[in-house]
Amino acid sequence: MQSREHLVLGIESSCDETAAAIVAGGRRILSSVVASQVEIHRKYGGVVPELASREHLRQIVPVVREAVEQAGVELREVDAIAVTRGPGLIGSLLVGVTYGKVLALALGKPLVAVNHLEGHVHAVLLEAHAVGRQPQLPALCLIVSGGHTVLYRVTTEAANGAETFSYARLGGTRDDAAGEAYDKVAKLLALGYPGGPVMDRLAAHGNGRAVPFREPKMRGNPYDFSFSGIKTAVLYYLRRNPQLQPEIATRQQALDRGERSPDALRALSSSATLDLIASFQRTVVDDLAARTLAAAEEHATRAVFVSGGVAANSELRRTFESAAPLRGMKVYFPSRALSTDNAAMIAAAGHARFLSGERADATLNAEANLPLA
Ligand code: KG4
Ligand code: ZN
Repeated sequence: MQSREHLVLGIESSCDETAAAIVAGGRRILSSVVASQVEIHRKYGGVVPELASREHLRQIVPVVREAVEQAGVELREVDAIAVTRGPGLIGSLLVGVTYGKVLALALGKPLVAVNHLEGHVHAVLLEAHAVGRQPQLPALCLIVSGGHTVLYRVTTEAANGAETFSYARLGGTRDDAAGEAYDKVAKLLALGYPGGPVMDRLAAHGNGRAVPFREPKMRGNPYDFSFSGIKTAVLYYLRRNPQLQPEIATRQQALDRGERSPDALRALSSSATLDLIASFQRTVVDDLAARTLAAAEEHATRAVFVSGGVAANSELRRTFESAAPLRGMKVYFPSRALSTDNAAMIAAAGHARFLSGERADATLNAEANLPLA
């Protein structure tokens, strides 16, 4: 390891993943451990905040220990501790923030507070560096997950050898996040939780033009999103098509037996259902890509970042990858593992703040609605 490379321990607990990671020099991931709670929340079809905080409490110590062990370092070699301060579920955030503060105090290490959304931006940079790409900032960043759908313009400035990032919010969802819409539609169709990964696989077998959903029309800011309308449109479609109910009941029975693989669920889905899923996905993906690329065009950014759980979607990736070059833009995604919540992205974001001299102290508090800009 080069001596100028600082080691940052990242801690993330904003939603339903307890995560810790060690990142060297803000770029090199030495370890990234994620304990997912998806099995716990699955039977409720969404994250139950009380259960989430209890599970974070159980997991935080072993997850941090595992990250340190996997990195092959000692805790005392770490140069700084970066922790997600918000936004997220307050009870969940508090576990990470409290543990980060205690650890920093006990080890005598600097503590850096990180905004979770800034972490998602850095997930893109981590992956770009890993594959030897150099995104040209300013960039337009779409963060699209189960909790967020938001557009930022990201700029960078070098000062005293440190790179600082700043963010301007251009728009965001007025109701549901895109991932939330996936999860709610998956619930209506009995496709399990979380809905995105299964729907992504099933959509490939349907016709995305079969059901003509209307693209959301936004009054005012064209860079705002709305996904509650399409979820309701799916509900009405199912009411108008009661012949789809028996297969929904059959899939629910399969899920109850623990049969949740995309192949098993596909075998229990008619072509009408596959068309419905494909059309939902086509509408959501087209809307995300159209608004993001229009914002990038207006703001004359040549780099487009797409991050968050929904950035793992194959059609979303294909759509951006074919549309961006036509407008002279380059698109950057995190690897799939870095798309969903993780602590490597928190360590990377924390590294930049650490270098620019930012420090948090014992008064640091979790903030459920912490804005990035
Ligand atoms: O970033 P993430 O792990 O947690 C949040 O901060 O929300 O994102 C999880 C969300 C879920 O809503 C899940 O359904 C969605 O991301 N998701 C996907 C895919 N993989 C995960 N949505 C569409 N296609 C996917 N392949
Ligand atoms: Zn997230």
